[in-house]
This record gives sequence, C-alpha cells and structure tokens, in this order.
Amino acid sequence: MKIEINSLKDYQHEYEKSIFSPEEFWEEKANDFVWKKKFEKVLEWNFDVPVNRWYIGGKLNITESCLDRHLEKSSDKIAFIWEPNSPSEKSIHISYRELFSKVCRFANVLKNNNVKRGDRVCIYLPMIPELVVAMLACARIGAIHSVIYAGFSSGSLANRVLDAKAKIVITSDGAYRGEKIIPLKAITDEALANCPEVARVIVVKRTGEDVAIISGRDVWWHDEETKTTDNFPAEVMDAEDVLFILYTSGSTGKPKGIVHSCASYMVYVDYTFRNVFHCEQNYVYWCTADIGWVTGHSYLVYGPLLSGITSVMFEGIPTYPNAERWWGLVDKHKVNVFYTSPTAIRTLEMLGLDPITKHDLGSLKLLGTVGEPINESAWQWYHKNIGKRKCFIVDTWWQTETGGIVLSPLLNVSEAKPGFAMHPLPGIQPVIVNEKGEELKENDVEGNLCIKFPWPGILRTVYGDHERCKKTYFSDYPDLYFTGDGCKRDNDGHYRITGRVDDVIKVSGHLMGTAEIENAINGHLIVVESAVVGFPHAIKGNAICAFVVTYEHPEHPENLKKEILEQVKNTVGPIAKPEKIYFVKGLPKTRSGKIMRRILRKILEGERQNFGDTSTLIDQEIIGDILSSISDATLVN
Ligand code: PRX
Repeated sequence: MKIEINSLKDYQHEYEKSIFSPEEFWEEKANDFVWKKKFEKVLEWNFDVPVNRWYIGGKLNITESCLDRHLEKSSDKIAFIWEPNSPSEKSIHISYRELFSKVCRFANVLKNNNVKRGDRVCIYLPMIPELVVAMLACARIGAIHSVIYAGFSSGSLANRVLDAKAKIVITSDGAYRGEKIIPLKAITDEALANCPEVARVIVVKRTGEDVAIISGRDVWWHDEETKTTDNFPAEVMDAEDVLFILYTSGSTGKPKGIVHSCASYMVYVDYTFRNVFHCEQNYVYWCTADIGWVTGHSYLVYGPLLSGITSVMFEGIPTYPNAERWWGLVDKHKVNVFYTSPTAIRTLEMLGLDPITKHDLGSLKLLGTVGEPINESAWQWYHKNIGKRKCFIVDTWWQTETGGIVLSPLLNVSEAKPGFAMHPLPGIQPVIVNEKGEELKENDVEGNLCIKFPWPGILRTVYGDHERCKKTYFSDYPDLYFTGDGCKRDNDGHYRITGRVDDVIKVSGHLMGTAEIENAINGHLIVVESAVVGFPHAIKGNAICAFVVTYEHPEHPENLKKEILEQVKNTVGPIAKPEKIYFVKGLPKTRSGKIMRRILRKILEGERQNFGDTSTLIDQEIIGDILSSISDATLVN
C-alpha cells in the first residue's frame, strides 16, 4: 500500500506541497481511484457563504473504488472478519468478492423497494455485516445513507428520520449487546408512529425474537434478497453529490445532520487512513468504533475498503462474556493495527492485567485512540500493557464535520507525546485564536482551535439548514472554520486538545448536546427547567450532571430522579442519562436568559466562594440557594 509519509522529511515535503500548491497536491492524491469522468477543477471555496466544492465536474461511484477495483487481484482477500457478540457463535469471513456480491444484491433490493438516487435511507442496525452492506448498497445506487446509532431511543430515531425526510428505514428484529437483547424493531415501530412518510421498513433477522410485521410496510431482508440478482452497475455520481448524512449533537436545538459528499470524502479518508495507520497489505486492522459514529464510517468502512485491507468487525462489547474478549480477538486474528477510544482503554485498565496476560498480543504494531482527550495514565497503560512499549500510538483528533483525521502523531515522523494529537495532517492549516479572535501565531499558546483553509473531508452543510452550518462553524471567527475545541500548541509546535469549549459534553467519547438532554428532562410534568453540565469522570472522561427546577418541592426526590432518568433514556438514549441530578430553586441566568453553566461547573468542582465575574447574573442570591440545595443531595446512577 502506498504510504507517502515515512519520515520527518516526507512529512515536511508533503505538508509544504499541500499548503503551497493545494490543488496540485489534492489532484495527485485523487489519481488512483476509479473515475467515470476526470474532474475539471480541484477546488472552489469561500468560508463566508460557506461553500466548499471539490473535484468539480468529476463523476464516480465510491463503491467502485472500495470494491470493484480490488476484484481483479484480490477478490478472495478477506474484507471483514465479523465476530459475533457471543463467542459460542462462529465468526464469519467475508471476502471482497462476497462483499461486492452482497452489496450489488442489496442495491437491487433497494431499487425494488422504490429507493432512488438522492433518497435518504436511515439505517438503524447493530454491528452486523448487513450494516456495511446497506451503506455501500445505498452508495452504489446513489441514495444517501444516514446511519443512526442503535443505542439511540425511539425519540432520537424519529427526530433523525424526520429531519432526513427518509421514506425507508433498515433495522433488525433485535440487537445483541453483551447479555442483553435490544428490541430494535419495537423501538423502530415506536419511532415510526410519528414518521408517516416512512413507507418501507426492511428488517434483518438477527436475534430471532418475535416481532410485529406491519403488512404493506415491513419486509424481511432475507426474503427480498431472494427476489433479485447480484448484478448492479454502479450509478454514476457527481463528485459533489451527497454520500451520507450523519447526525451529531449541537449545543443548541436538535442534532445536526452533517453532510459529506462523494469524491473528496473518499480522497481524504483514503489519504489519512494510509498515512496514519501504516497498514501493509497483509495486515489485519481492527477499529472498535460503532459504525453509528463517524469513526466507524471513515475508518471501519470506507478507509480500509479503499485500501483493500482486512478488518475485524465486532458486534459485542469489550467485557462480554468477560474482560478477556478483546484481547482474545487480537490474539485469535493476529491483529496488527488496533484503534479504539480512551473510555474503552480506561474501562479495561480498571479490570486489571490478568485478562491481557493470557493472550499473545505480539502481532500488534500500531495502536490508535480517538474521540476524546486521553489522560496520560491511560496512555501509559495502553503503551505498556497493550503495545508492550513497542507500538507507536496515534492519538487522532478529528470530528464528524472534518470527515477524517486532522491532527495526529505520525509514525517515523516524531516521538509520540502522551495526550498530544501532535501534527496537522497535510492540507490542514490549524490556527489557535484567543477570546478576541486574534490568531496566536507563536508557540506555547492556548486558545480555541480553528482551521483556515479547506481540506477535502470538510463538511458541506447541515442537512436542510445551511444557515445553521454557517452560524455554528463559520461565524465565530471570520474566514475560519471553528472546531468548538480548546487547544494548546507547545514549545515544539505540537498540538494538544484540551476539550470542548461549547455546550456539548463528551461522555465516553460520545458527543451529547446539553440542550437535547435538558429538553428531555423538561418534558417531565413536574419540571420547570433544567441545566445540564459535564464533570470529570474517571472512566467516561466526562459525566453528566443535571440541575433541575421543579414546580413544587419533590416529595420523593429519589423517585423523581428515577423518572427523570427514564425520561432521558426514552427520549435521547441510555448514553445521555445524567450521573447526578440535583433539585435546585433556580438556575444562574444572565439578564438575556442564558444559563451561566460556568458557575454550575465550578460548583461541581467543589468551588464554594470564588465564581469570578457574576455581575451579569439576574439574581445574585441564586448561587447561595443552589449551594444550600445541593449540600444534602445524593448521587444517583
Ligand atoms: O472534542 C473533540 C473530541 O471529539 C469531538 C468530535 O466528536 P465527534 O464528531 O463525535 O467525532 C469523534 C470521532 C472523530 C472533537 O471536537 N475528540 C475527538 N478526537 C479527539 C478528541 N479530543 C481529544 N483528543 C482526540 N484525539
């Protein structure tokens, strides 16, 4: 596999070229794909509108670069080794040829079910091969996939289906998750009661549970497959046609449907996959992310397939049936490159070394982490106990909106520093700004992280709301893309992400919007209003705390807490459940009605006196009131 960056000199060469001749640089990177028609121009952009158009005039279908082009030389090569939730069920090896055939067959199923180019298809599936097949089949026929994480509740599913204006949903009867079975079809039915436009539901049989089949709307995946063939010529797409929508939480309002388009997402994911993970053709690669999040899209599905690599795809959880599961799989499949999250690392660290020592992890060559800042002790544990001090660690920083990795340590370029995302990838021009929006050009500075030039993975818009895209990412600082993250650049010019600076919270690596959780809590009849903030948590990185104002003093606070937790679970999903709930008399608000979350965060950190400038608070007494109401409050899980 081609790897351009193999030394500091290579990196400097690539980086300089990408900055001084970006169009030439990205034209070269696009050459090896299957194009139906070569593009006429590499880039048109303006961060003010904003508009970002890449490979203008080019025609292609991404599945031809992911699948068809590998068939000649490596059709028998394994694309995915699928490991089921339970170790007593057999793993499945799917070759590139088999994957191609499954994708074409399901593309025909979609067509037979009236899905057309440009239609949105919501996919609400567990980590089973059909999830990958469904995504690629959408891409093959030119439909837009929108994968919804199977841990979301019916309310969250309904919101996303409605926002995407989808007429079709693909789900399964149920999902295995450790010892549990999640009734995905029943959750889908509940969600779709509020989505009258959905005319078709395709159901995968996974758990074999009895499920309601609504006549005229629901069909079984396996029945539909038998009605068709595995021949499906790829639809010719424009470079800028939408490939997928993926929802991510925002600091206000409903989740944003981040839009990525076909050609430049492909080029960027491919370039970053090759140069960050350094896989050789015979490597086995394992990204543990769920495909419901962007890491799964870019580095479990598209990136490895574009490179023709063999990947492990795992249905279950790291601790089922015991804490050895992951390490047993690394050993069994001789995994060479392993990519996971800091929360998973911390969870496994807590379980001690026994589960590791039973397995041979000698195949590992490179380790990765993503999704949230990694604390130094977790990094060291990962380096010592999993990497045996011989594996390079890539702490990759990026976002749903960036499409692919933006900052990362790079093998053979420099030593990794724990907790540092280190270098901008070629094409990335990071800028750190202070509160006044001034660029801090020197080293040893801290501020908000922005990017000043487009890269191919950049989002195109927020689905159906371009104004929101502009306001969220391109308005705080003129001519810059604002990431929403705080960042330091040290004396050596290396980058370290410090965390979110807006009202979203990273819980176990999942982005949670405070507004979304507050809306769920406020839906309880007895609740007047609420404010949600994050606080440091040893395993999850951050946990959620809710300050809740009720119409009357709750007679049974413990019962009310349980009801609120249930409400959040049903409206957003179990991952959004607060760790702590405090009932308070009021919230610290400014005259314009904005909640001063900073004060609540300080209270949680244990501060009792020094709250900085509180002059804009409408009610100066409120801090004292909150402190007295939480003094005897209890912790709930
Ligand atoms: O705050 C940063 C954090 O995750 C956010 C993006 O979340 P999401 O769109 O869900 O994508 C996650 C997977 C790419 C960022 O704004 N984040 C991501 N990676 C890191 C990180 N924070 C610190 N270090 C990282 N390596």
